[in-house]
Amino acid sequence: MIKLNVNVDHFATLRNARGGSEPCPILGALMAELAGATGIVCHLREDRRHMKDKDVYRLRELIQTKLDFEMAANEEIINIALDVKPDLVTIVPEKREELTTEGGLNVKAEIERFKKLTDKFHEKEIEVSYFIEPTSEQIDACVSIGADMVELHTGNYANNFNSNFEMEYNKILNAAKYAKSAGLIIAGGHGLNYVNTAPLCKITEFREFSIGHSIIARSLYVGIEKAVKEMINIIFRYS
Ligand code: PXP
Repeated sequence: MIKLNVNVDHFATLRNARGGSEPCPILGALMAELAGATGIVCHLREDRRHMKDKDVYRLRELIQTKLDFEMAANEEIINIALDVKPDLVTIVPEKREELTTEGGLNVKAEIERFKKLTDKFHEKEIEVSYFIEPTSEQIDACVSIGADMVELHTGNYANNFNSNFEMEYNKILNAAKYAKSAGLIIAGGHGLNYVNTAPLCKITEFREFSIGHSIIARSLYVGIEKAVKEMINIIFRYS
């Protein structure tokens, strides 16, 4: 069955709205783990709009599953990641003005830079994933820099779910097959929710999904434990 890694950034978004300590993203992560999440994802952005440095260190200390640290390839954040030593880093593009990550990273455009970055993390025994558009060019680039894994950007699939499902689904399917045949581990993420995740569960090449907003939003109504369990049930039912 495809694994579910829960992104807990938006517990911190809500906490920061009032500047206090509630809701606590660490407690949210621990409860997500208790409900069956196989990993916890957090994104330390340059502007620290949700997760703060201390949250990342606390997550590293307290969670029992796997820590996937999403990050831009920026010197300050790279140094923090090397110090925190997550199980996995997922390298994403980052623009200050964006509301959330808006698309995949162009690995192909900076092969040398990303090869050095991958080597740096491998020296510390940290696995490296790149968040990319589902294209063979980007997958080839990730293979050439020695990436362990790719996270296929599912945002366009999610945005076009009711208008252009087949075309976007096939892009993900073909990319997953291509990446698997190239020896990469495959994740998918961005914009996945309680409706659009189901069809992707048939793509057996996926090892994991990284899902945040829809689960944290649902947790406001039903609690984080139930929100995580409901998503796991969908993955189980449709796999
Ligand atoms: N994967 C990556 C690389 C992301 O940047 C994000 C958003 O932080 C997610 C997955 C989760 O996306 P969503 O919050 O839409 O589920």
